[in-house]
Amino acid sequence: MKIVITQKLPFEIEKYLQGFTLDYNKTDRDLTMDELKVKISDADGLICMLSDRIDKSIIDAGQKLKVIANYAVGYNNIDVTYAGQKGIVVCNTPDVLTETTAELAVALLLSVSRRIVEGHKFVEEGKFVGWKPELLLGTDLYKKTVGIFGFGKIGQTIGRILKGFDVKILYHTRHKNFQAELLTGAEYTDFEKLLKESDFIIIAAPLNESTKHKFTINEFKLMKKTAILVNIGRGPIVKENDLYFALKEKIIRGAGLDVFEFEPKIYEGLFELNNVVMLPHIGSASEETRKAMAKLCCDSVIDVLINKNKPIYSVN
Ligand code: GLV
Ligand code: GLV
Repeated sequence: MKIVITQKLPFEIEKYLQGFTLDYNKTDRDLTMDELKVKISDADGLICMLSDRIDKSIIDAGQKLKVIANYAVGYNNIDVTYAGQKGIVVCNTPDVLTETTAELAVALLLSVSRRIVEGHKFVEEGKFVGWKPELLLGTDLYKKTVGIFGFGKIGQTIGRILKGFDVKILYHTRHKNFQAELLTGAEYTDFEKLLKESDFIIIAAPLNESTKHKFTINEFKLMKKTAILVNIGRGPIVKENDLYFALKEKIIRGAGLDVFEFEPKIYEGLFELNNVVMLPHIGSASEETRKAMAKLCCDSVIDVLINKNKPIYSVN
């Protein structure tokens, strides 16, 4: 049986998947759609990245395909419905990356609120010539209100971690979650109140029809002028040129972004601003977690192809 793996993973793939024929892209470049179509034409399994768009044409090309394991928790890059119609199991990698991604959200939040990156540049450029009472003043989390948009496992874990900062936590998501409220002390609110009352807003939602462009200039105008926005979910949840305008015109105070609307392309104006911290989509990027995600993808493939079981993390 043949498995296509679209990028090199930090895991002993060849050893773990011995017995399978592997078509393993160990180069550091993405496969083109055409290359992928050729490769999966005789494949039984596919391990792909969030940067691979698995649309109908790719799924149709995989005539023997039985399982797609996405090396990510989000799976908006895959036409899951169509895969399901074709009897293909689609899997993702939740749970193993929850803490890692939540930690990054907090790191990004503090980077913006305490101007960590600006400070680093300042020192690097040799500008630190003396302590000053008004040098690089940031803003505290302590006793402020944090609004979490999307309160799945990652959102809840961000809430649990932030409890230690003694903040008030609001959340907005499709369904009120009493258990999560007990765990985090968070309070459910409608979207408008989340925008109006939060000092910090963290987006931890998946991308779907209801979250796409949820944050536009209208929402930024409802937010506090002192508010900081962090996005560790998916780029298209935020209308990026509107965010640029809001940051430039100081409609909100700052932003921390791990994801972008058209990544890896970034709205160019953002590079000119010093009230934004940008990361190259590294939410789950710890050594431990990326390895665990790889093992999980392999296990999903083995479950479907060898054990004929439903894998624990199938999304269809
Ligand atoms: C990362 O963005 C993921 O969905 O795992
Ligand atoms: C995913 O983005 C989650 O909220 O768990």
